[in-house]
Amino acid sequence: MLHRQGLILAALVAVGLGFFGLPAQAQPFMQGPKKCQECHEAEVTVWEGTKHFASFREVHKSDKAKDIVAAVGGEKNMKKNELCNQCHYSLIGEEMKAEAGPSCESCHGASSDWYPIHNDYGGKDVKREDETAEHKTKRIADAAAAGMIWPHERYDIALNCMSCHGLDRPNVDGDTLAKMLAAGHPAKPDYELVQYSQGSVLHRFYPPDVTVNKPLDAAGLAEAYIQGAAAKLVTASAALAKSSDPAYQAFQQKRIDLARQGIEAVGDMAEAQALLTDPSDANARALVAAIKGQDLSGKVGSLLPDPGTYK
Ligand code: HEC
Ligand code: HEC
Ligand code: HEC
Ligand code: HEC
Repeated sequence: MLHRQGLILAALVAVGLGFFGLPAQAQPFMQGPKKCQECHEAEVTVWEGTKHFASFREVHKSDKAKDIVAAVGGEKNMKKNELCNQCHYSLIGEEMKAEAGPSCESCHGASSDWYPIHNDYGGKDVKREDETAEHKTKRIADAAAAGMIWPHERYDIALNCMSCHGLDRPNVDGDTLAKMLAAGHPAKPDYELVQYSQGSVLHRFYPPDVTVNKPLDAAGLAEAYIQGAAAKLVTASAALAKSSDPAYQAFQQKRIDLARQGIEAVGDMAEAQALLTDPSDANARALVAAIKGQDLSGKVGSLLPDPGTYK
């Protein structure tokens, strides 16, 4: 009997180490938007005007939230519920406490590892304007390797949006997602990158005038539309295998159909055809690379959402 308990204990310890032992120390954590505010005041102000920001004070209070929590189980307080935490909150600090709705690092990656790289321009005394081009290239690559989701690779950012908005977060299993759907959790197959990124969440304070929030031009919108459709097609196709639940399958199939329309509009470009035949991440990246710098607004312009519908 004792022997057997010992074995079970050993197994539990082994599992525990796998999740919380050595890798836990290396696991990056969020530092919260206050950490970014000192240098990114304008972006913080934009964020404070979004639903991502407001929902921290609101979403847990609704009857719908309470019904969904009751259906999936776990901690009754949504802010402490491990499942809801995966998408609804920024889990800040090593103790991963829900202290804000989705925020900077929900989209740009938890910063504990990339932050020191972000602000190092080549040594303690080197100012940003004196950074060498080589150092900048290396800094961007190193920050990405340390978990920063670099905004200029919009496809990467789009994959991340889709994981929450397409209900296919890797660490949430399909059957739980199916239960959430059955309990009335929203699932919007028509979530589309341009419509959702060019409204309230838009922040593009790029040089030369960093005080102006500059929307994308027509070519940029067309590119973002295709990047978003590619990310949607790849994630929804992979998500089909997550659960055999009919409602979840129908939701992902609808996402696939809508995303395919976007890719089909690109026309007979080989990379677009390859992605439609095999919706792999590699094929999506090849398409995104192939359309870089091209103006496809003539081809996909008619599919773009009306600016009046931007979220
Ligand atoms: C000490 C100042 C400072 C802090 C703090 C800071 N950043 Fe930055 N960040 C900058 C500067 C300056 C740039 C301009 C581009 C460059 O040279 O890296 C930048 C660029 C960026 C970019 C890429 C934009 C581009 O044009 O390439 C992102 C994304 C970003 N920061 C996110 C964050 C987030 C998220 C935080 C908080 C976790 C943060 N930053 C904290 C100074 C800072
Ligand atoms: C896989 C990511 C994910 C998980 C896990 C998740 N949600 Fe959501 N939830 C979302 C997204 C994305 C939206 C916004 C959908 C939209 O309106 O576009 C949302 C919306 C909601 C809404 C509607 C809010 C409104 O403003 O109408 C409620 C309520 C909600 N979620 C409750 C929960 C609860 C409770 C849990 C935990 C049991 C949970 N969610 C888990 C991603 C998730
Ligand atoms: C909803 C996801 C999302 C959130 C939340 C978010 N970002 Fe971004 N961020 C993006 C995307 C997408 C871009 C790329 C915009 C483009 O170039 O079209 C971007 C670009 C940037 C840039 C470069 C453009 C600029 O404004 O200079 C910086 C810096 C930045 N983000 C910092 C932040 C900070 C700081 C926060 C938190 C206050 C934040 N972001 C919150 C998605 C997000
Ligand atoms: C960590 C998960 C997560 C990520 C990543 C994320 N979102 Fe969200 N987003 C949510 C949740 C949850 C809500 C719903 C909040 C609520 O209603 O309480 C939401 C709501 C929104 C809304 C408001 C929708 C409405 O109907 O008013 C917009 C717009 C939005 N997200 C855009 C984006 C874009 C664009 C990206 C990527 C650049 C992104 N989000 C990335 C979780 C996420």
